[in-house]
Formats: sequence, structure tokens, C-alpha cells
Amino acid sequence: MIALADYEFFRRLLKGRSGLALPDDKQYLLESRLTPVMDQFGIQGFAQLAQRLRGPDAREIEDAVVDAMTTNETFFFRDRSPFETFTSFVLPSIARARPAGQPLRIWCAAASTGQEPYSLAMCLRENAAIIGGRKVEILATDISHVALERAKAGIYSQFEVQRGLPIQHLLKYFTKSGDQWQVNADIRAMITYRYLNLLDSFVSLGRFDIVFCRNVLIYFDPPTKSDVLERISKLMAPDGHLFLGGAETVVGLTDCLRPNGDYRGLYHLKGSTDGADAPAYRIAAPAPSPAPPAQPTAAFPPPQPHPARPADAQARQTHRPPRYFPPRGANEFGG
Ligand SMILES: C[S@@+](CC[C@H](N)C(=O)[O-])C[C@H]1O[C@@H](n2cnc3c(N)ncnc32)[C@H](O)[C@@H]1O
Repeated sequence: MIALADYEFFRRLLKGRSGLALPDDKQYLLESRLTPVMDQFGIQGFAQLAQRLRGPDAREIEDAVVDAMTTNETFFFRDRSPFETFTSFVLPSIARARPAGQPLRIWCAAASTGQEPYSLAMCLRENAAIIGGRKVEILATDISHVALERAKAGIYSQFEVQRGLPIQHLLKYFTKSGDQWQVNADIRAMITYRYLNLLDSFVSLGRFDIVFCRNVLIYFDPPTKSDVLERISKLMAPDGHLFLGGAETVVGLTDCLRPNGDYRGLYHLKGSTDGADAPAYRIAAPAPSPAPPAQPTAAFPPPQPHPARPADAQARQTHRPPRYFPPRGANEFGG
């Protein structure tokens, strides 16, 4: 059992360290997630754990507590439609708007164990003709060291590869190793993994054409959601694209972003175009070009500045009323 005062201590700690907003009745969640941490550090009970966390050598235990409290649920091509939107609409409009040779920059901001960035990498491989030989940089970040280690290894159980991954992709992009499957090295090399806490400054990451920040804001309270969204918006290219999870929205949280009028879960900077100046790409994928496939990037070089939007593109900007508003983001823990 956890005493009320200790529970309040953990709630404050988690809110301050990771943004996790625990409602006032989730003691059982702490108990189930933190018992292994207490075992790991030889700590007897929550009172002692709270005491150790107040002490001078708290950092290592604090990291383990924060990590254990993250929910890393994810799977390949989760919700499917964001990846369809990515492939059929976002990639063509971004590729068309960027000069040849300019790398496309994608940030997967809560990458968990890697299924989301690997799904993006596979989409890019499958649609190399759209990208037209440009380099693509995928930065995948998360607060969980444990999840990041798994993501980097790219090794998944039979159960995990059966969740959302088309069999053709499994056979094409994975290698069986015992009873597990590993993402092939060329796909792994397309992604740079880094530790990043969304509560900390991330301005040094540079500018991104596409941001995936899915199924993490649900754990934050509204002021934290607003703050993270506004800081993400500052990193987005003027015609950039932001994907949020199905239970997440920008509505009521920030004036910097707006939903796309046509594609659920997709958001843009307020006042920017929906990419409606690329109608051909909305109907069918562009004819394959003889361009070479996208180059994998091993490192994550300093960002390239994006050119200013041309005046005619600015003039074509439209702001259609959004057709879809996702449900207001209830905290997954019921808060
Ligand atoms: C439910 S998973 C979502 C994974 C993936 N984006 C998806 O939609 O399938 C949420 C992830 O957010 C991460 N996370 C939670 N708080 C975070 C924070 N403050 N900064 C960065 N990542 C965080 C967790 O570690 C976890 O891996």
C-alpha cells in the first residue's frame, strides 16, 4: 500500500520530470510499475523509495522511476490512416515543394520501441520515386532509455510483427533470428535515435518538414500539451505537417496550429496552406520517376535552413474550415 503523502510526492515528481499527469486514484498503477524498480534497487516499500528519491544520489533511481512509468504501447503502422496520409498526400506535397537535393527532415517525437519510425522508413522505401532521390533524415526520440535501446536493436517478437505489419513488409525488410525478427540494417540505418524529454528545450534539433508526435500528449495536462505543441510548431517548416494521435488535437490548446481540413490527425501551422496546390498528388500517386531511391542517413547532420516560401505560394494560401475534429484528448489515465 502507498500512503497518500507518498502518492502525492510521486505525482509531483512525475509531472515535473516527464509531464505525466496521474489522476488522484491511480495508486495501483504506481504499485505495478514501480515494484520492479524497488526490487532492482533493493528498496523496501514506497516510503523508502520516496526517501531515496529525496536524497543526494537520486538521479539513477529517478530515471528508472520515470522510465518505468512510461507507457510504451505501440505497433507497426498504428491506426494505418496516418501512414496512408503520409504516403499519398504529405510526402508528395513536401517533395514537390522542396528543391531537388534538399533533405527531407522527419521527427518522430515519441518513438517508443521503434515501430512508428520503422513504419515511416518502410513507407519511404516503398515510395522512393516520390522522394526523387532526396536524402531523408528521420530523427526518433523518446524519454524512455529502455524503449530506445529496443528501438535501436530493431528486434521484435512474432507477436509484435503480427501487429499491423503486412507480411510482404516482414519478408522484405526483416530477417528472422531464432524466434524473433530483426529490422534489416539498411532500414535501421535510416533512423537516428536519441533520448529527448519533450518537457526540455528541443530548439537545437532544427527545422522539420514532418513531425509525428502521436499518443504522448494524452498523458499530459492541458498546459503541458499547449506548451509542447507551441514549441513543436516553432520547429515546423512553414508548410510543414504534424501528425497527432487519434485522441489528440490542437483545438483549444494552441493558436499556432490548425487541423487539416481533409486528413484526420494531420495539423499545420495556422495560416499555412493544406498543400492544396498539389491536387494531382491527392488523387493518385505520381508516376514513378527514374530517380534513385532515397539515401539512408547514418548520422544526423546539422539542419539545413529552409528557403522562404515563394510569394505566389503565399498568395495561394487558403484556410478551409476543418471537416474533422478529433475527440478532446482525455488523459488515458482518466484525468
Ligand atoms: C504510447 S507511446 C506512443 C508511441 C508511438 N508514438 C505510437 O503512437 O505508437 C508514448 C511514448 O511517449 C514517451 N514519452 C512519455 N513522456 C514523454 C516525454 N516527456 N518526452 C518524450 N517522450 C515521452 C513514452 O516513453 C512512450 O514511449
